[in-house]
Amino acid sequence: MENNKNDTQATKEPVCAELTDSSLTPCTIVIFGASGDLTARKIIPALFHLFCNNGLPSQVAIVGCARTAFDDQKFRGKMHEATQPECAQKWDEFASHLHYRSITYDSMEKFTELRIALQEIDRQHQTGGNQLFYMATPPTLYPLVADMIGKAGLISDQNNSWSRIVVEKPFGSDLKTAKELDATLHNYFTEHQIFRIDHYLAKETVQNILMLRFANTIFEPLWNRNYIEYVGIIAAEKLGVEHRAGYYDQAGVLRDMFQNHMLQLLSLTAMEAPSLFVADRVRDEKIKVFRSQKPFDRSTAGENLVLGQYQSGMIDGDKVIGYLDEPDVNEASRTPTFAMMRVFVDNWRWRHVPFYMVSGKRLPRKETKIVIQFKEVPHSMFAHLLDKRIDANRLTLSVYPNEEIKLTFQTKTPGPSICLEPANLAFQYQQQENAPLLDAYEKVLLDCMVGDQTLFWRQDSVEQCWKFLTPVLDECKICEGEAGTLHPYAAGTWGPEAAQKWMRFLVD
Ligand code: BG6
Repeated sequence: MENNKNDTQATKEPVCAELTDSSLTPCTIVIFGASGDLTARKIIPALFHLFCNNGLPSQVAIVGCARTAFDDQKFRGKMHEATQPECAQKWDEFASHLHYRSITYDSMEKFTELRIALQEIDRQHQTGGNQLFYMATPPTLYPLVADMIGKAGLISDQNNSWSRIVVEKPFGSDLKTAKELDATLHNYFTEHQIFRIDHYLAKETVQNILMLRFANTIFEPLWNRNYIEYVGIIAAEKLGVEHRAGYYDQAGVLRDMFQNHMLQLLSLTAMEAPSLFVADRVRDEKIKVFRSQKPFDRSTAGENLVLGQYQSGMIDGDKVIGYLDEPDVNEASRTPTFAMMRVFVDNWRWRHVPFYMVSGKRLPRKETKIVIQFKEVPHSMFAHLLDKRIDANRLTLSVYPNEEIKLTFQTKTPGPSICLEPANLAFQYQQQENAPLLDAYEKVLLDCMVGDQTLFWRQDSVEQCWKFLTPVLDECKICEGEAGTLHPYAAGTWGPEAAQKWMRFLVD
């Protein structure tokens, strides 16, 4: 039958771009910081899960490196404890790919030993000189480790082999340190070898923003200042700082969440359609959004920025301590644990549309979502019949706890009188039963192995975002000690009073 272009019958089969066998080449994955939390909680479980689902190349070696004096057996045992029992029958086979070498990060001798060990492991597992260096160390060690990798000659020079380096956020703590880190990485790696991870980009529902916007015609014509009143980007957390005060008290919510996850969500929501779904075209469009952000204006700081710090309060009926009483937090700390920013993207599409970005710890519940609030109808023909205004349409892209897309619209309530009530059209990701769900770390590890940088930060965006945030961070610094700038809020509430006039539009 002739292919009818106007045939509107949707096919039920997914349309997929499959990974080909040739994209997964043999490789050695070297994890620095292998005795730490990230390796046990995220990296090894993700690698094991991939292994169970044939998502790793058959010739693979995983080499943990850290200061702790483990041997292969001890490391395998520790990692076994950290993985889920599912697919237990495959553990021994997976474990045979795991190795461990203890390292002192500033010792050339140790790195030279590691180079020799890696050559031997490469031969044993036939990994062809392909290497993925994963920085799971504290961020302060990234420059040192990158430098030692280069100086000790760890980077393989075998013909046709590849070497890549993976760095976790934070990429520096300000523009200057971000540039310094980049310069160190670039001493030994080119930009296409550097994979800067933002795990938010690997979340299915975050990736789906581009599919929703650019694989459908119905949203895009409305996706602009003519129809959208405001955009809300919310990443609320119930947890406090936990055991991470050493890092968090230096970073605060602006460096921890805004410089990376929040601004990525903003760019995916605001960007133009790339001409092709390939890494650099996607990242070119993102940097244009970051460049278009209206610079933060200190004279109107009060309208565009609310910073807060949690005090003791109640979460789920339990009393929790305030930030200043958390272990390892400086008792006079002025570090914000909550921020609400109103930002504008000064371009043709978005001029005058506020983007409200909110993130905070110790809020009533964990919830991550993007709210697209449409404008009210231009004229309500029901106004003379109803005593209330009717709510405008809202599209909610939920990332957590529901992985959901929800469109709210007005309907007539059945019956003789004129009543309007909001109804929802909702799509839940869990409905796609057949889809193999990849955890965010599985997805980023897979992309690193196949060399696809679409979901990773490019340095120009990192620097642009630091530039944008610098005056905000300065504001935070300058106002240190001045009462009123850092607003207290009780744990278990939706942030400081000063943010409530916006928060009530953003959370249900
Ligand atoms: C991390 C931050 O990058 O993201 C944490 O360092 C935060 O402070 C976490 O809790 C939130 O991630 P998720 O995936 O749980 O929303």
